[in-house]
Amino acid sequence: MGGNCACAAGNPLMPHTATITSVTEETGDVKTFQMVFDDPAVMENFRQKPGQVAQISVFGMGESTISITSSPTRKGFLEFSVKRVGRLTTVLHNLEPGCKVGVRGPYGNHFPYEIMKGRDLLFVGGGIGLAPLRSLIDFVLAEENRDDYGKVEIVYGARSLDDLCFKNGLMKRWPNIKNTSVYTTIDREDPAWQGHVGFVPAYLEEIAPGADNKYAITCGPPIMIKFVLSALEKLGFPDHRVITTLEMKMKCGIGKCGRCNIGSKFVCLDGPVFSLNQLKELPPEF
Ligand SMILES: Cc1cc2nc3c(=O)[nH]c(=O)nc-3n(C[C@H](O)[C@H](O)[C@H](O)COP(=O)(O)OP(=O)(O)OC[C@H]3O[C@@H](n4cnc5c(N)ncnc54)[C@H](O)[C@@H]3O)c2cc1C
Ligand code: FES
Repeated sequence: MGGNCACAAGNPLMPHTATITSVTEETGDVKTFQMVFDDPAVMENFRQKPGQVAQISVFGMGESTISITSSPTRKGFLEFSVKRVGRLTTVLHNLEPGCKVGVRGPYGNHFPYEIMKGRDLLFVGGGIGLAPLRSLIDFVLAEENRDDYGKVEIVYGARSLDDLCFKNGLMKRWPNIKNTSVYTTIDREDPAWQGHVGFVPAYLEEIAPGADNKYAITCGPPIMIKFVLSALEKLGFPDHRVITTLEMKMKCGIGKCGRCNIGSKFVCLDGPVFSLNQLKELPPEF
């Protein structure tokens, strides 16, 4: 954050206005909002990196931390996938194209895509946890970056067929890109689903992707992460090549309010992206 933060009038807590340009219903409780800053100069200068977040506000209602799910390689707009869980996200879900919101950011660190160059990548996501991973998946699979990375494997699961996010990427776009494999699973049987049924960590062990020359990047519900981390360890991934992103409560996003700290670390400044060896050095509260 810092240097490239797009904040209004030099006040880091003042959002810029943006207009919602499209709303995609991913599942019954997740919508993807595409939006464009009203000031073209702000749009032009908003330089996010995969894995960073922004604060999205609905005026008079408050704001929420949301991962930027669109890749920086897709220019001229930003996308955010939002799960309806409470007050602000319910109000956001009621907005339509043309409505105004506030956006400030980008905040936090990013997935270490520079050191991943030349490596194979294994993405493991669950539910809305695919949202932050999607920014990196679309970044490495973009035509201009594809040759910088090796094989890409995406293992993704959701509770049910209706809960699968980003079906277009999972079923159409990503599997058609060279050297890319997508494995999708749902927790329980559905007559309309011919694919795999079972939990993500067990499916991961079944697929048994090799760990050599590979980074694993994971995000999902805490219980899934716990078992995925243990599966990755069994598969031979060293801690420094396992990357995850935390969803601790954040408010200011700029290291001022103390809402997101774990020991001496602030998730909004030092995270939300951490390697497993960094996480193991943190106090157990995360
Ligand atoms: C780094 C980061 C990235 C995130 N990325 C996304 C994303 O891409 N998409 C998305 O839908 N959500 C994301 N979230 C979570 C999102 O910020 C919260 O779901 C949202 O702020 C809830 O706001 P609300 O007013 O609707 O809910 P509230 O009415 O405030 O709360 C509803 C319920 O959710 C709990 N809750 C609220 N905020 C959080 C939180 N941050 N973490 C855990 N529990 C919370 C509350 O305790 C309560 O139980 C992210 C959070 C962080 C910190
Ligand atoms: S969110 Fe305020 S200090 Fe991190």
